[in-house]
Amino acid sequence: MQSKKGAFLTMLAFAMMIASCYYDNREDLFPEVAVCNTSNVSYAADVLPVLESQCLGCHNSGSQQGNVNLEGYDNVRAWARNGRLYGSIAWLNGYAPMPPAGSQLPPCTIDKIKAWIDAGAPNN
Ligand code: HEC
Repeated sequence: MQSKKGAFLTMLAFAMMIASCYYDNREDLFPEVAVCNTSNVSYAADVLPVLESQCLGCHNSGSQQGNVNLEGYDNVRAWARNGRLYGSIAWLNGYAPMPPAGSQLPPCTIDKIKAWIDAGAPNN
């Protein structure tokens, strides 16, 4: 009887520990989530640098993996407007998750790209 109760309390304490780690620290770990500014997102200043560092290695005119070329504004706009750019970076069902290796782009980066797409993917 005593050991059953002990096991239950141990499990309860463990569950509470996991829950508190998950909820308490998220904003400490990702402070940019709290201050993400998605107004006036610029293609040149916000979107292009992400593509250059995270995507163009596999999606350029010479190497179009998955038949996707993200080199040049006109190509990027086409993939933005057909919904596949956002679907892939947001890892939505039905899209190939991008980048394919490692972790997803930071939430604020994804939000900014979404805001730019929602604004009509301007060349700004
Ligand atoms: C290591 C190489 C590599 C990198 C880096 C990479 N991709 Fe891809 N990408 C691929 C391959 C391979 C496919 C085809 C995958 C498939 O069809 O399953 C693909 C497919 C896509 C597609 C089509 C997805 C669909 O479901 O139609 C888009 C859009 C795309 N990538 C955008 C991006 C973006 C944006 C980035 C940067 C955040 C990126 N990729 C980074 C290799 C890469």
